[in-house]
Amino acid sequence: MRVPAKLNLQLAVGPPRADGYHDLVTVFHAVSLFDEVTAEPAGRDGVTVTGEGADRVPDDQDNLALRAVAALRDAMTGPAQAATGVHITIAKRIPVAAGLAGGSADAAAALVACNELWDGGLSQPQLLEVAALVGSDVAFALLGGTAVGRGRGERLTPALAPATQYHWVLAFADGQLSTPEVYATLDRLRARGVRGDGRSLPRGSQGDGSPREEQGGPQGAGGYGRRESPVPGKRPREITQPVLDAALMSALRSGDARMVGRALSNDLQPAAVSLFPALRKTLAAGLELGALGALVSGSGPTCLFLAASADRALDLAVSLSGAGVCRSVARVAGPAPGAAIVSPAK
Ligand code: C5P
Repeated sequence: MRVPAKLNLQLAVGPPRADGYHDLVTVFHAVSLFDEVTAEPAGRDGVTVTGEGADRVPDDQDNLALRAVAALRDAMTGPAQAATGVHITIAKRIPVAAGLAGGSADAAAALVACNELWDGGLSQPQLLEVAALVGSDVAFALLGGTAVGRGRGERLTPALAPATQYHWVLAFADGQLSTPEVYATLDRLRARGVRGDGRSLPRGSQGDGSPREEQGGPQGAGGYGRRESPVPGKRPREITQPVLDAALMSALRSGDARMVGRALSNDLQPAAVSLFPALRKTLAAGLELGALGALVSGSGPTCLFLAASADRALDLAVSLSGAGVCRSVARVAGPAPGAAIVSPAK
């Protein structure tokens, strides 16, 4: 199985819910950075992880892929329910805890692979339901492409967009961020009345990456974002429910990379930058080097940059890597397909 990393082209975050999660409106976009996942029959469930950041991935029941296996077993009915153990092997290329949903991708791959292996017969909609139980981003990794996510991110509507390929450069950071910590930091920043709009940094913004307040961010961004220090005299702001950014959707429908670059937004960006201040420099460097838009990916710390073409992406990747503002870079294209079977189960 081959399963893609995801970017969020918009990530609008509402107030915390009673269950600790946040209602989101997000535009997911799968890109051509893949983990390889295989499933083989075994005496009992187990997992082996190799590759990028493998030592930081749990190899016990806390592994998201094994949790997906357990959730699938629970969801199956009939003879397949007596399914035997399975050993999952994950070859990681998607960096761990990087805001690219690599763990969710592995879980999605495990679902598809085990459904095949056990002849589970679950349909795609049924698999999507199981995926939603495993984690907020797992369902999207099954689907791939570009899609709007609502709820925790698990309620998906594929985006009807032309077959435009977008060329991205990813800048991997030297470090990790914990997703719950980033959400909790956002809540704290908001409680302190910190404002900003989490938009993609504009081209030609100051070289130090100082956030620029923009007028009227995306409707759903709620006016929060990139200022990390409290604004004197500000009170906690009322946090509205997130709304899909019409400008981004129209940019995607037109397939115009320049418009897409301008419309990128992420409410988690100020929280990620406050926990990982070096990201400010990375974002600013990418824009200085000609990116059409720059954004922290999901909860970070990976930064994403949109380039006007494959050639521009190559130039940008080389320059960014020379600028010493990240650990390493990768060029990827999107949208990419969701969890796909490369070699069928024997
Ligand atoms: O669902 P998942 O396990 O991927 O989420 C990881 C953590 O991210 C959650 O425990 C929660 O703290 C945070 N989260 C959130 N709201 C979401 C998605 C994730 O607060 N919609």
